[in-house]
Amino acid sequence: MSSVLVSPLTPETTLGELVATRPLLARLFERLGIDYCCGGKQTLAAACARRGLDVTTTIALLDSAGAALAAGPAEVDAAAMGLAELADHIETTHHTYLKAELPRLVEMAGHIAGKHGWRDARLPELAATVRTLAAEMTDHMRKEEVILFPLVRQIETGAADGFPGGSIANPIRQMESEHESAGRLTARLRELTDGFTPNADACNTHRALLAGLAEFESDLHRHVHKENNVLFPRALKLAAAQPA
Ligand SMILES: [Fe+2]
Ligand SMILES: [Fe+2]
Repeated sequence: MSSVLVSPLTPETTLGELVATRPLLARLFERLGIDYCCGGKQTLAAACARRGLDVTTTIALLDSAGAALAAGPAEVDAAAMGLAELADHIETTHHTYLKAELPRLVEMAGHIAGKHGWRDARLPELAATVRTLAAEMTDHMRKEEVILFPLVRQIETGAADGFPGGSIANPIRQMESEHESAGRLTARLRELTDGFTPNADACNTHRALLAGLAEFESDLHRHVHKENNVLFPRALKLAAAQPA
């Protein structure tokens, strides 16, 4: 999303204009309890007055959130991190983001399928795919947090004294195969949404959903890269160098 050509926010900007040009900011509206979908014609001033929020503070909040989004996520040098440090980073960054974001994506996709599914047959499949992906990713992250990452941390300190059920290669293979499934489902989301591109008549929730899915895809690619290409090969190499 480019913010270069987007005009500055004022109290007179409508919620509809704002979400159409900066769809990822819809997340903030949800947090503030502002209805940007049915209430899209309201100005920011009116929406803030209704919720008892100060409009100047809200605009400052939206501007700084928009600037942070435009700058993109601060990327770390995964290869330079220790294994425990990288596992901690993955949990606090990517897993924390997904735990907050997946329920929101499921809810929006279900809402859009219910509202517009009659005129776009792809929307029910989109909602079902988002639901499957969210369930798989939630289960997947739990396995990493409860089983694999603690083992990786132990391997780094040399404290891993065997792993019930075989070597660390087994859970790693399982996680890699789950990453492939998530990648396939995400590619299907991209196909079903023409590359996350909204139609000219897409409603605000639909735009917020597509922007959220595009962001999810980009986060998933960075997340899986850190695990498949950095954390897992290094953990395997270290485990292989330790006495059985
Ligand atoms: Fe992960
Ligand atoms: Fe993973």
